[in-house]
Amino acid sequence: MRTLDVALGARSYPIHVGAGLLGDASLILPHLKQRKVAVVTNTTVAPLYLARLRGSLEAAGVKVIDIVLPDGEEHKNWGTLNLVFDALLEHRCERGTTLIALGGGVVGDMTGFAAATYQRGAPFIQMPTTLLAQVDSSVGGKTAINHPRGKNMIGAFYQPRAVIADMETLRTLPKRELQAGLAEVIKHGAIRDAAFFSWLESNIEALLEGNAEALSHAVVRSCEIKAAVVAIDEREEGPRAQLNFGHTFGHAIETGFGYGTWLHGEAVALGMVMAADLSARLGMIMPADADRLTRLIARAGLPVEIKGMSADRFMELMSHDKKAQEGKLRFVLLEDIGSATVRADVSPAMLAETLRLAA
Ligand code: NAD
Ligand code: GLY
Repeated sequence: MRTLDVALGARSYPIHVGAGLLGDASLILPHLKQRKVAVVTNTTVAPLYLARLRGSLEAAGVKVIDIVLPDGEEHKNWGTLNLVFDALLEHRCERGTTLIALGGGVVGDMTGFAAATYQRGAPFIQMPTTLLAQVDSSVGGKTAINHPRGKNMIGAFYQPRAVIADMETLRTLPKRELQAGLAEVIKHGAIRDAAFFSWLESNIEALLEGNAEALSHAVVRSCEIKAAVVAIDEREEGPRAQLNFGHTFGHAIETGFGYGTWLHGEAVALGMVMAADLSARLGMIMPADADRLTRLIARAGLPVEIKGMSADRFMELMSHDKKAQEGKLRFVLLEDIGSATVRADVSPAMLAETLRLAA
């Protein structure tokens, strides 16, 4: 097992990465305020992993309530969040009851938001079971639900007490979901670490084959990169925005085509291709660098071309982007493979060229 630290003073927390961690209650017990937890999961993950987690906790004398939500990005909304509150109240959960998110990013984001608001704040632990959640969404404390007009529009910054990533859960992950997780791994290399990007170019096949050692390295390195950024800018007032590389276009794609049509990681992949194209048009990187990123994304089995959304629709959806300031869009763009920056001065004409790719 590898343990990393998200350094946030009194709210610092560990990220444990290893095989078989779901059955190890000793990683959870130090973070509990009372011997009662509510495990929030979904209809796909519950039959696979709930019994193992419940068994280890009950053997340690912890009472376990389970809350099983419908599966899918289209359920990441108020209605589903209310199911969590209904169950917490029905089972008389107190402010000291720890919520455990067992699942992918959808379960993690919703459980975190429920924890942030239930009785004004209950502790929660992330137990991510998708690659995407292990490399990105479980770390950093962004919690949210979607609104019909925009992704993750309602939420809170609220840090977990621990992240426990059991690498064995990836064995049951469908290939399309593994590929979606690789989009965020590639993102981390593209924005912060050229050597890691090169390592991904050499190891993408091993990752796609589910090689445990390669996946473990990808998760640990991604968490190191994300934890370092979060530690210096928890609330995205500066450099954390770089973690949104590909997301301005990607969120518009997810919302525009309907939640669940494109997986989040697929939309981010397409968004990164568009952001790299824009970076090249602005002369920030060479077209060969944009091609290099696009090639790696394609080799990861992710989409690199999208059609069917007009520039006007993109602009309407992107106007809700959370990075916008005083109505002005801001884009995370590459200045090199391994280095990103935020630009607010992209001309409408230049942006139109990139958006034409998707029309
Ligand atoms: P997801 O949560 O929908 O999970 C993908 C699918 O895999 C689901 O059907 C799920 O039930 C299933 N699944 C989960 N674990 C499994 C396993 N071990 N075996 C088999 N099936 C399994 O999607 P995701 O890609 O994990 O997360 C995407 C979400 O994360 C989006 O809503 C996105 O906005 C959010 N996100 C948040 C952050 C953040 O910082 N908070 C960062 C990135 C993404
Ligand atoms: N996924 C982007 C962030 O956590 O800031």
